[in-house]
Amino acid sequence: KKHFKIAVLPGDGIGPEIIESALKVLDVISKKYGITFEYKHGLVGGAAIDETGDPLPPETLKICKESDAVLFGAVGGEKWDNLPTDKRPEKGLLRIRKELELFANIRPAKAYAPLLSSSPLKEEVIKGVDLVVLRELTGDVYFGEPRGREVRNGERVGYNTMIYYEHEIKRIAKVAFEMARNRRKKVTSVDKANVLEVSGLWREVVNEVHADYLDVDLEHMYVDNCAMQLIRRPKDFDVIVTGNIFGDIISDEAGALTGSLGMLPSASIGERYAFYEPIHGSAPDIAGKGIANPIATILSAAMMLEITCKLPQAARDIEKAVEKVLEDDYRTADIWSPGTKKVNTAEMTEEIIKRL
Ligand code: NAD
Ligand code: IPM
Ligand code: MN
Repeated sequence: KKHFKIAVLPGDGIGPEIIESALKVLDVISKKYGITFEYKHGLVGGAAIDETGDPLPPETLKICKESDAVLFGAVGGEKWDNLPTDKRPEKGLLRIRKELELFANIRPAKAYAPLLSSSPLKEEVIKGVDLVVLRELTGDVYFGEPRGREVRNGERVGYNTMIYYEHEIKRIAKVAFEMARNRRKKVTSVDKANVLEVSGLWREVVNEVHADYLDVDLEHMYVDNCAMQLIRRPKDFDVIVTGNIFGDIISDEAGALTGSLGMLPSASIGERYAFYEPIHGSAPDIAGKGIANPIATILSAAMMLEITCKLPQAARDIEKAVEKVLEDDYRTADIWSPGTKKVNTAEMTEEIIKRL
């Protein structure tokens, strides 16, 4: 296939800035590899609320369903922070994930040699880290019912339900073991089975699926311990498989390990659709200044080239260009350190393109 329909959803805050960078990189790749992209832009998040009152207008969902892949920026911002949970920008993103059944969220984190000094950890701890957080994305306390806020006995209560169906655990566990087979053959399943029934089931089902993958090592770890081990001995992790909320938290931690949240891409996959977004948010504190790190989004586009467009070589080109730019000491503010060259979003993008 040489022609791809891409839904482009920039969203809020730095979303439009970083998406612009990714599209510039894709332009170059499209010429180099003789493929074409047909972009359809859609409103999502706060931008969609302002325009239509709905964080995920039907038109946007339609564009996504008619595309080969979705490229997403970020959503959210102070302006919409007082809306009820159900009407917030973030709900737009959650509804897309659910509607497209994007149950497997792949969040790779690796230590780039030139960035070792940007990590809050000692160089020898972080050097060589290469892990993937595989986060279940359409279940858990994010979507469980019942949920709500109400008044009971004269005081306010809020509640959610942490729930997993067996089939949801089974399919994400399979993805984890398959992925580990192509890597270092180790899966760490993260849960809170010492306290939660839902985690007890998680552990049981992961063990059952493991029976078909005995060539892969499986270990179980409680999420609190995992949060700690990740900063003590991050190199020991290969594939970390976990539920929606633990995966959300653990993957931000993995982002900080390797230097900046602004470096981490992601792909979300289901049976039919594929969705690519950086793991970070709309970064309201730096939005509009043109200084956001575009690398997470550019690397998300690289994941799209590999997974959706089946062009692993193009993905490697982008990864290599990113590595070279870092070796040549170009840094956006979030990864800057004394002695390196500080560049803004557009300059970083240009430097990456020059090396493609
Ligand atoms: P955030 O990820 O937006 O920002 C956390 C910190 O990291 C900020 O200091 C920010 O400046 C920095 N940062 C993030 N991405 C960066 C980049 N590319 N370059 C440089 N620095 C970067 O998280 P937050 O501040 O907790 O949330 C802000 C808003 O984003 C909230 O409304 C939240 O709900 C939303 N959010 C959206 C997504 C998403 O759309 N997928 C993800 C997380 C948070
Ligand atoms: C992420 C974000 C989202 C999540 C929010 C914005 C709904 O934090 O993609 O990591 O919690 O999944
Ligand atoms: Mn998150």
